[in-house]
Order: sequence, then structure tokens, then C-alpha cells
Amino acid sequence: MGKAVRSSVVFAINGRRVELTDVDPRTSVLNYIREETEFKGTKRGCGEGGCGSCVVLLSKYDSKSNKIEEYTINSCLAPICSVDGCAITTTEGLKNGKEPHAVHTRLAEFHASQCGFCTPGMAVSIYSCLKNSSKKSSMGAESTKPTVAEAQKAIAGNLCRCTGYRPILDVCKSFAADVDIEDLGVNTFWESSELAKESSLNLYQSEKDPEFPTFLKIQAGDYLEVKSVRAEEVTAWRSASTLSELFTMYEEETKGKNRDVNFVAGNTSSGVYKDFKPSVYIDINKIPELHSVVETDCTLEVGSAVSLSKLITIMDARGGPVYSELAKHLRKVANEHVRNRASVGGNLILAQKRGFASDVATILLGAGSQVTIATSRDSCIKDMEEFLAGVSPDTTILQCIRIPSWAQYSKDGKEKLFFKTYRSSPRKNGNAVSSVNAAFLGIFQTPEVDNGYTVGKVQQLRLAFGHLGAPHAMRAKRTEKYLLQKTVNPDVLKNAVKILREDILSSAKDDDLYTATYKASVAVSYLFQFFEPLLPSSNLTSSQVGTPCMNGGDTLSNGSKVHSRDVTGTKSKSEVHNKGDTCTNGNSEVHNKGDTDSNGNSEVHDKGDTGTNGAAMNGTNSDESAVRSFGRTSGNGIGIGEGFWGAQSFPHYDEFSPLSKPAAKDAAVLQASGEAVYTGDIPSPPGTLHAALVYSKKALAKVKALEASDALTSPGATSFFCAKDCIAENVSVVNNIAGLEFREPLFAEETVHFVGECLGVLVADTHEHAVLAAEKVKVDYDNSTLGPPILSVEDAAGMNSFKISPLAVMGTASVGDELIKGEYRMENIELFAGSQYYFYMETHTALAVPDEDDCITVYSSNHSPEVLHDTLSAALGIPMHNIRVITRRLGGSFGGKNTRSLIVATACALAAFKLKKPVRMTLDRNTDMVLSGGRHESKATYSVEFNKDGKITSLETNVLMNGGYPDDYRDLLGLLLTKAMKCYNWTSWRHVSKVCRTNLPARSMMRAPGEIQGNFFAESIVEHVATYLGLDRDKVREINMHTHESAKLFYGPSTTGKAELFTLPKIVQRTKDLSNFESRKLNVHSFNKRSMWVKRGISLTHVIYPNMQSAKVARVSLFKDGSVAVASGGTEMGQGLFTKVKQATAYGLSLLWGENATGKVDLSKIRIVENDSISLANAGTTNAGTTSEGTCEAVVNACKMLVKNLTPIYLKLKANGGESPRWEDVVKLAKGSRVVLTAEARNGEIGPATEYMACGACASEVEVDLLTGSVKVLQADLVYDCGKSLNPAVDIGQIEGSFVQGIGYYLTEQIKWDENGVLLTNGTWTYKPPTIDNIPQKFNVELLNSAVDSSRILSSKTAGEAPLVLSTSVHLAVREAIKSARADLQHLPPVPGHCGPENMKGSTDPLLIRNSVTSMENVKRLCGLYNVEQYLEKLSIESS
Ligand SMILES: Cc1cc2nc3c(=O)[nH]c(=O)nc-3n(C[C@H](O)[C@H](O)[C@H](O)COP(=O)(O)OP(=O)(O)OC[C@H]3O[C@@H](n4cnc5c(N)ncnc54)[C@H](O)[C@@H]3O)c2cc1C
Ligand code: FES
Ligand code: FES
Repeated sequence: MGKAVRSSVVFAINGRRVELTDVDPRTSVLNYIREETEFKGTKRGCGEGGCGSCVVLLSKYDSKSNKIEEYTINSCLAPICSVDGCAITTTEGLKNGKEPHAVHTRLAEFHASQCGFCTPGMAVSIYSCLKNSSKKSSMGAESTKPTVAEAQKAIAGNLCRCTGYRPILDVCKSFAADVDIEDLGVNTFWESSELAKESSLNLYQSEKDPEFPTFLKIQAGDYLEVKSVRAEEVTAWRSASTLSELFTMYEEETKGKNRDVNFVAGNTSSGVYKDFKPSVYIDINKIPELHSVVETDCTLEVGSAVSLSKLITIMDARGGPVYSELAKHLRKVANEHVRNRASVGGNLILAQKRGFASDVATILLGAGSQVTIATSRDSCIKDMEEFLAGVSPDTTILQCIRIPSWAQYSKDGKEKLFFKTYRSSPRKNGNAVSSVNAAFLGIFQTPEVDNGYTVGKVQQLRLAFGHLGAPHAMRAKRTEKYLLQKTVNPDVLKNAVKILREDILSSAKDDDLYTATYKASVAVSYLFQFFEPLLPSSNLTSSQVGTPCMNGGDTLSNGSKVHSRDVTGTKSKSEVHNKGDTCTNGNSEVHNKGDTDSNGNSEVHDKGDTGTNGAAMNGTNSDESAVRSFGRTSGNGIGIGEGFWGAQSFPHYDEFSPLSKPAAKDAAVLQASGEAVYTGDIPSPPGTLHAALVYSKKALAKVKALEASDALTSPGATSFFCAKDCIAENVSVVNNIAGLEFREPLFAEETVHFVGECLGVLVADTHEHAVLAAEKVKVDYDNSTLGPPILSVEDAAGMNSFKISPLAVMGTASVGDELIKGEYRMENIELFAGSQYYFYMETHTALAVPDEDDCITVYSSNHSPEVLHDTLSAALGIPMHNIRVITRRLGGSFGGKNTRSLIVATACALAAFKLKKPVRMTLDRNTDMVLSGGRHESKATYSVEFNKDGKITSLETNVLMNGGYPDDYRDLLGLLLTKAMKCYNWTSWRHVSKVCRTNLPARSMMRAPGEIQGNFFAESIVEHVATYLGLDRDKVREINMHTHESAKLFYGPSTTGKAELFTLPKIVQRTKDLSNFESRKLNVHSFNKRSMWVKRGISLTHVIYPNMQSAKVARVSLFKDGSVAVASGGTEMGQGLFTKVKQATAYGLSLLWGENATGKVDLSKIRIVENDSISLANAGTTNAGTTSEGTCEAVVNACKMLVKNLTPIYLKLKANGGESPRWEDVVKLAKGSRVVLTAEARNGEIGPATEYMACGACASEVEVDLLTGSVKVLQADLVYDCGKSLNPAVDIGQIEGSFVQGIGYYLTEQIKWDENGVLLTNGTWTYKPPTIDNIPQKFNVELLNSAVDSSRILSSKTAGEAPLVLSTSVHLAVREAIKSARADLQHLPPVPGHCGPENMKGSTDPLLIRNSVTSMENVKRLCGLYNVEQYLEKLSIESS
């Protein structure tokens, strides 16, 4: 039968047939969905495959098996033609008619959606897991539900910047077969854990799932041939049915034509090499040979187009030491969505041709694989090594890969096989390229005599390493050769390690994230890990560190145990069960199984309680009726299984209902189902043009020329505007709010001052064309006259390029001005706190629509509508009433959309105004990162005096903050940092903060701005004092902790408040109790004594967060049907403002029935409308975390005005016989009686806007792998004073989310610039916000009610920012673990020639760690880059 060819792409989206006859094959599925359909739920967070917000479910019919295969993909990476014949399901498609899906409602009811931008991707990922599990029964499985572990891994490839993941993981678990329903966290299905019932949950019913469209079955097997000619550009998609046809097609497309032709399998490489846009795609997926799987006893041969996910399944089914290990490793490659599409062949080609840091190439090299290369004439087989070293011409195809089973070497035979793979990355389960990867295969003789050796001589050895900086994965041949025919003993291993390090250092190169020295050190660690368990028992005596283990678990794939070994080399053969190490009740057992993770991370399976006792601390207010607790709250020794767990408890009271209730987030179901509209989802009006920014690529230079003529000939380009085209003022920020005035230009003029500074805006017919044309604008820079850019604070200070924050220069806080002398002094010690990027999931976006009579409406993702309003007026030279700024919701901000997004909105408005056409712009992730800057990196220099008991008597601090170039909130930042540094009673303190102007992008008010840096400095100082004196850190903390009196001195009486409001001591004590801190501290100590290569640390820190409410406004309007619309100045960005405002409205209007009448106006009657700067003028900004409470107060005030208006009507109805008149009747009659039904009010009009202090504390425990530097957060117990929480579920969400963001700050989110001021960490490849791999495995949160202050609404306290600061406890716990590692180093001999800082000995150095960045590399450096060599040296000395 001939080949059925179709020239139009046919697929289904949410059941609807789509046929595209003229389509550019470069269009991604994501772009198609977003631009051509109404399904806007599928979001773009990165365009790189790294965030999961674009995930859709793909269903494909296989006519041979008559089965439908379903899996998730990143729609940003999939070309539209690649889904020909498939059904796409987006989150909207999960709905059954108008009914939301169970996944949607559970995401909403478990409070798992905050800003909601990640939620559609989460929903589809979870749904895919359920869907595939539901098919398990056909495979004979007992349950059609996933296990907890399977369900949780469903979201391993998705980023969420708001929630901290715990509630999303609860949603996943809630669908699992093996979940104990009582372990689930706070939700609205039941009121507390005692009432937990599975039947309360809405069920997933697979029979209601969307059906696979029949029309797609009929045409399955068709081949696609699409050709498109646009703007004289020819693009095509062709689909080959055989290898020979493929070669013919290639020849046809290339011969005599100048075209980029690309074979395409999964096309996931488009996430790696984004600039490569071929004009012709030849799809290789329908060539049978490339999908074949041939199994023999000795090999597995897979076609090159087989996806990584399929390969995992095949290998799992096959089993055996090699295939199982390979499959385990592959599960950590990329993420599931990518693996579902990514082919093994595509990966190897990238490794070979592009030098991609492939895991696949390394592990297949290690396993001794071969490849078959086909040309149009013949084919040949090559060893992986030979293949990688060559460059296959474009006319060749990688046909298949042959992977040996090595089955002939059974471990029971004469020769034993060991195969092990390694990768280390900041995310254990993948979704992060490894720093170094490796695969080792060894065949060993069995020992002839039992002399303590596990194995005999090395018979064969393959040591493969990848991502070292060499062009491709390679074998360490010299090391292999050295080890061959040797029995491995400490001396042999020591020499092997030496050879390996030399070899690796000679080829390793620094990359954007890791240095060559670190890579070499990790490579050495891998070799050590491979051979260490094979070393014989030694007779060495144990020293002061007892009987430690390596990491307490298996490291070899054959199941042999790693022997316990202390630092001096003593080895015990027992499997290590660390009893009760992290448990809090002292009698439960921890099985540190340490298996599964090839980077040396052991997995802790805590069989025990979560550390909470279920009772929230009683607040100072005695009117609390009960405590609501969710999650496993009491320790009973019952195992809670694998995964992430947490308990949440909060006080419960009824009198302000529905305020104070844990109501589900407003619009959460809409967010999950994809119907919530974000700025980028607003449909473009007809004729809309698209804009892209042209920005400086130099940090400091004169602009000699800016030339756009070539760019304007680019397809679709229409206009270019720069400084000379400004209409009125050249301005992108005009800030007059909060007494802080600053202006920033829109376009640079003669000089550029940082990379990312805007030079102009290019307008075109489509987004793609605008971006393409913007790249073509020529900028002629001259950097010969201005000198080098200032990048560091030291350079800035040296050149007097700074502003002293006026409010941050303190006198002493003691009585009088003298600093008080102590018995000891440390001076001029430096500390460094790093930067952080906001990583809101929705990048900056705006749509400007010009209107009649010089008016304009600007939809913008920002939370300073008033500032944007002012800015537009100045930029466009029009009165303010001509401008309307509209924002409905933001996909997160964390301070980044306060002022930083205004540039996008202003540039759009300028272009729209000039062109008299709507203009829209959305930044791609890389541009957003380059332009937006982030947190202020800071350096502190301090001198401290103290007594022998640890009491600090004086502190002098001089802090330099890197403010970048633009002004932004420069004046405020020093003050905020100063506030944070007051968290201890320094007795006397002199402090200066200088915010430096450097040639870097703006540093703005990122969540807890200046606060986390200040807290880090303060905690480090206390820790240094303790270390210097050799005292317990917690004792020194305690002695320097504020009392109410000292707090008044430092913060002032009005912020500190009355003595009974000073909750810090109680909170710290409660945190100790909740976490069982003292006994876990002992456990950590004893664990560290026993464990050589894995160390733990535990630390408890506190936060004092002074707040001041700014002016907020709200207007409440009643309609005659009883429905209510509320407009507020606050912007919803995930923090739950609208939810609380809705609750406050219901509470406020219910006052019509009297003080104690609650809940008379139903929440469903109330709608919170978008911010609109015309309908609610002068609305201020949303920041500092206090907007929710201020707005609630404004709303209640407005409601009280309405209640006053309505009362006569209410009384009239009551008098007419209605005992309790209905709300609808009251409003209807009031309308007819000409009562004013709209009221606008501000906060502070009835009760005073107030200052207050919020306190919290957290105990965190971590585990550090000394071989790679990776860190795992085992547990965090956090107690926070929320006053009377306006909505405990929302506040707990804020607490957990910000804490995890803080973990990112310390552990994973490194910002790096090159020496020219160019941002190196500018996308998801290099910048790593936490995923589920980085969150605490147990996370218990307890809210405290300290409410007695009736001047604020419910005496509530903000929870959005302060908990981020508590993540310092994680950092300090890491330090504790490192300290233990360094104490061990003291007992090891130095490695000759390596006495640099990385090899520094001793635990007494008071300046142990000065840097906040506890990245893997920094941790490894501090634990000893040569610790393996030192250890082997010791073994070698002692055994000789
Ligand atoms: C977010 C993300 C994270 C990732 N993380 C990792 C990781 O941790 N470790 C890792 O190893 N990889 C990682 N990758 C890389 C990923 O594995 C590769 O992108 C993927 O395997 C490539 O397969 P593909 O089918 O999509 O190739 P495609 O993108 O279709 O093709 C890639 C290249 O290979 C060519 N090609 C494809 N098949 C053949 C063939 N049979 N013969 C000749 N040429 C061919 C194509 O022409 C193209 O030039 C990651 C990728 C992404 C997007
Ligand atoms: S947008 Fe596709 S993964 Fe981020
Ligand atoms: S809710 Fe997940 S990114 Fe905002």
C-alpha cells in the first residue's frame, strides 16, 4: 500500500478537531494554543522545558496495538506539526461540561494555588499520573490509584514559586492508594484532622475522562508534508517513512538550496539551543527501524528515536545490574515531560555535535554501548567512544544503540560485576543538568582467600565521566590502566585518585556554575564511592569520632552494604540504622536507608512523628475556642512512609466569621482550570502589534549610534522608537509614593550604564517578528573613555559611588553614645550576602490600547497601578484622567513587579500612543532576568566586643549594598537592612548602610528586602562569637535575645508595643518544644560522630519583623440583586488579598445584623473586581505584605458606612414582620428608597493604621553530603505570630512559600555575572529555584495568636515576608554540618601541595563561613575539596 500523505496538520485540542493547512512548522504547540485558541490556561514560564507551566497531555493512538498512549509534554518545545494525529488535553479540557475536574477542586480546596500561574501545568501533570494509573488494572495491578511516591513525582518537573509545594504534594497524595488521609494538610474538605474522611473528597472518576476522538483513529498512520511560504521564507515539515526516504528528502531539501534542515525526533533540543530555528524539519518518528527494540541475552538494541521514558520502561522490565542502574539514572535526566519526548538518539547527537553535557552519553559509554550509524549507502557500528569523538556528517543518521547486559558476569560466579552511575545536581530528582556525571563498570575476580576483601583483582574497568568541560564524555583511561589487575586497597585507591584528578584537571573547564576544581573533586568522590565498599576491613583504631558510617546505606547496585567507617578508617560491617536521629519522641526509629541516590544523598525514612504535638501554643488571648490541626500531628511511632509531610495547626475562633476562616482562595478553581485571565491572556484587539525591547549588551559605554534601518526590513517589523521619539518625558518610573521620590528613564540616551538598560522598542506584526527584528538593531558602543564598569560594592565604595541610607546611620542603641567594651574583641570581619532573582512565573507583560481623545488603557502585570498611572502621565504628556491602568491578577511578583515591570508597560504605551494601535509585549524569561535584577547583594564588615559568657557588649557594622544603577527604592533599602540587624540585643551598636551605585541592573524590593541579608549578618555574628568562645550557639543566642525592654530601645516603643504583645520568648520556646530541639540536637551530634561522609546540622533562629501599614483604599458597591462588587487598591498576586477582602466584606456587611451576627452575607454574593486606576483613583501600591490587612480594614470601614445607610431599611423590614430580614430584600428596598449603595473608605479612618512587630522562629535540620556538597533539608518546624489570622490557610501558604523561597536564596539560587557585567545565570538552565527536591521533607507550621490589639483588624499580622527570613535556620544548620566535617578534617593529614582555603583545617576558625551562598560547590569547598585524598592518605599511613 502506498504512503498516505496529508498536507494539513490535523489534531484535536480538548476534543475539538483542528486542521491547519498553512502553518509555519516552527510554531510551537504552546504558541498555537495561546495565540490561536481560547485555551489560555497553558502558560509560558520559560520556553526552555524547565518550568512545566506549559505542560499538556498528549494522547496518541497506536493502530497496531489498538491502544492509546498518553503522556505529558512541554508544549513550548513541541512543534505544531509534531502533534499531527494526536489529541491535546489542556487543563480546560479536564472539565466535564461546566463541572471542574477533581484535580481542579482539590488544588483549590487544599490551598495549592496562590498566584495560579503554575497551577494549570500542575493540574495536567497530576491528571496524567492519575490517568495512567487508572489503566493499571488492565495490567493486573491491584489498585488503579498511584502510590504516594508516584503521585508526588508527577510534579517533579514543575516549578511553583509561591506555595513551597507542600499543599500541591498534598493534592497528589490525596489521590494515592497508600495515603493515610489524616496525614493530609489543611484543606476545606474537612475542618480538622479528626474529621478527615476520604468520602469528603471529590473523587477522580476515570470514566468521565475526555475520550480519544474517533476521527484521529481513522487517520492514524498518515504522513505529513507541510510547506509554508511567508514573507518569501520557505519552511517545511516532512515526515519520512523509511531510512532511504529520509536520505532522499534530505538531499531534495539541501541540494542547491541554502536551508537549515533538521532531523527531528522529540525536538526538545529547542529548549537547549533556542536560537536554532531550522527552516525544514524532517520527522524521523515514523521510521520503523528507529523505533525498534531488539533484545537478546547479551544486549538490548533500541532505535535512536525511542524516548528516554520508553527506554526506562524497557530497561526496568529487563532488569539486571546494568539496565536497572541505567534506568535509575535516566529517571533523573531532565524531567518527565521532557523525557516523554526526548529521544536517546537526539541526546547522543547533541552530545556529539554540540558538546552537550549529556548524562545519556556518559552512562552509555560507561556501560560499553555501541551505535549504528547509517548513511544513504551503508551503515557501520561504532563504539560509543569513537562515536562521541567524531562528528557525524549531517547526511548520516544515528540508527540504533546497542547496550550490553554484561549478563555473563554474575555476582555469584568467578567474576563479579559492579555497575554504578553518578550525577550531582542541586535537584536530586533531576530537572537540573549535573555538575559532573559518571558511570563506572568494573569486573572483579572473586578473592581467592577470605582476607577481608570483598572482591579480588580488577579484571575490566570502564570509568566514564561527563560534563567536565571536555567536548564530550570520556573515559579516564590512565586511571583504568593503573587499576587493572590490582586488588584495591587504600594505597592503590589513593594513587588511582591522584591519577584521576590530574587527568580531569587537565581537561576540566569552568562553566557558568561550577569550577573545574570542584568538578575534579566530585569526580574523585565518585571514584571513591565506587571502590570504598570494596576495600578490606582494617584494623585501624577508632578515634574521637566513634564508629561512623559512610552514608548509612547501599551504594552498589548489587545490593552490598557500605561498611561503616570512621575517619580513621575503622570499618564495621553492620548496616547502619540510625536510631531516632531525627525523631522527636525519642522512641521511634529512623532508617537512614541511603539507597536510591547516586549523588550520595541518602534518603531518610523517618518512622516517627512529625514533631508536633497537635496543640498550637496558646496565645495571649484567652478567647480561643480550639486549635485546628492538619496533617500527622502526634507522634505514635507509626511509619508515615516515603515522601514529604507536614502538619499545620492554628487557633480557631468564630466571632469574625467568615474572616479568620481557612476559606479556599478566591478564583482558585478558575486558576486550576485555566480560565483565570492574566494580563497575557487578554485577547488582542484587532490590529494589535507586538513589541520587543532593544537593550544594552554593555555595562558602561557611550552609545555612538543606534541604527534600526536593517531591523525595519526584517519580516513584519513596522517601527522603532528610542529616546529621541519620546513624546513628553523620557521616563519609565515616576514614584512619589511612601515619601520616596525617584524617577527612572525609559530609554538610555548617550550612555548605557548596565547590561539590560533599555535603548528602544521595536514593533512588529507578531511577537516572534518583533524579537527577531529587535536583535537586528545595531548599537555602536564606545567603551574607551568611561573606564571599566563598577560591578562590586568594594569598587563602588572606593569610587564614592554610593548613597548613605540616611535613616540607617544609627547612634548606639544603649543609653549614651559610647560603644561598650567587652572582654574579647573580633574586628574587621567580612560577611557576604548574595543576590536572588524574583522568578515570578509570569514574566513582565503589558497591553496598551489607545482610545479616543488622547486616552489610553494599559493592562499591565504590575502592583503599583498608581505609580504606573503617574509614569504614563509624565511619559505621554497627558492628564491623569486620560489614563486607565488595569490589572486583574499577577502570576507572582515577590517585589519584582513593583517598579521593574513599568518599563514594559510604558514602552508599550508609548508605541501604542504613537502608532494609534494596540501594542502588547511579553518578555521572554532570559530578557526578564537580564532586565529585572533582584535582591541587593551586600557585604558587611563588623567589629564585635563580647564577654566570656557570650554576651555581646557592642557591635559596629558597615554594610555596603549593591543597588545596581537605577534609583529604585535605594533610600529605603538601607533602612530595611538595618531593621533586620536589630534582631539581637547588641547592647550598643553603631551602624552604617551604604547603597552603592554600580553598573548592574536595578536591585528592587524583593520579598523581605534587605531583611534576609540583615538577618544573615546578625546570625553570623552571633555564631562567630559562639564559635570563638567554643560555646553552644543557642546559649549565645539566648543571652543576646531581646527582652521587651531591649526591643523597645532598638525598635522604639510604638513598634514594640505592650509587653504582652512581645511574643518572641514564647515563640522561641514553643519552637523548641514543637521540634524537640534539644534532644534532636543531641541526636545530630551522635549521628555526626558515627557518620563520616554525611553530616547533619540543626539550628533554630528567630525573626523580628516590624511592620507599618500604609494607606489603603476600597470601595464597596451593592447591586439591587444583593450582589456586591468590591474594588480595592490592592493587587492580587497570589498572596490571597482578594480572598481576605472577600471575607472582610462578608463580615463587614453582616454587621447589619449586629456585632455578633456573622456570615449573613454569603461569600458567593461578593466579587472582587480588578484594579482599575480610573474607577478607584490614587490607589497606592501593594507591597511590604501589609496590603491585605490594610485593605480589609478599608473594606470593613466602607461596609460600616453602608451598614449605616442600610440600617433604617433593615429596621423597617424587621418592623414589618421579618424577624431577620434577608440581605437581598434589604438591598432591593434600599435601592428603591434612594439609599446610597456605594461607599469608599480608607484604612485608619475608624481604627488607626498602626505599627506592630511580628515574630517567628524556626528549627531546621539538614543533611550534607561531603562528597558532592549537596544538601537535603530534613525537617523544619516553624512557629509564627499571625495575630488573629485573617485566613489561616492563606497565611500558612504564605509562610511555607516564603520559607522555601528563602531556602532557594541560601542553597540553590546562585546569581553569577561575568567580569563585563553580563548575567550568566539567565534562564532555567543555570538558575535553579527550589523544586520538590529542595523543600523540607517534613515541614510543620504552627500559627500563634497574639491578638489583643483591637486597633487593627483582628489584630492580624502579615505573614508574607518575615518567614522567608527564617530560612536562615537552614543555612546555619548547613554550617553546623560543615563544622562537623571540618572537625573531622583536623584528624586527617593534609594533602601535600593543597593547603589552600579549600583544604583548610580545623573547626575553631571563628570565621568559618562568611558567605550566605551555600551552593553545592561552596559547601564542598568548605568540607574539603581534597577530603577524599586526605582520608585515603590516613588509611594508607595507618595500614603501612
Ligand atoms: C529542560 C531540559 C532538561 C534536560 N536535562 C538533561 C539532563 O539532565 N541530562 C541529559 O543528558 N540531557 C538533558 N536534556 C537533553 C535532552 O535529553 C535532549 O534534549 C533530548 O534527549 C534530545 O532528544 P530529542 O529527540 O528531543 O532530539 P531533537 O531535539 O529532536 O534533536 C536533537 C538533534 O539531534 C538530531 N537528531 C535527532 N535524532 C537523530 C538521529 N537519529 N540521527 C541523527 N540526528 C538526529 C536533530 O537533528 C537535532 O539536531 C534536557 C533537555 C531539556 C529540554
Ligand atoms: S514554558 Fe515550557 S517548560 Fe517552561
Ligand atoms: S501558585 Fe505556583 S507559581 Fe504561583
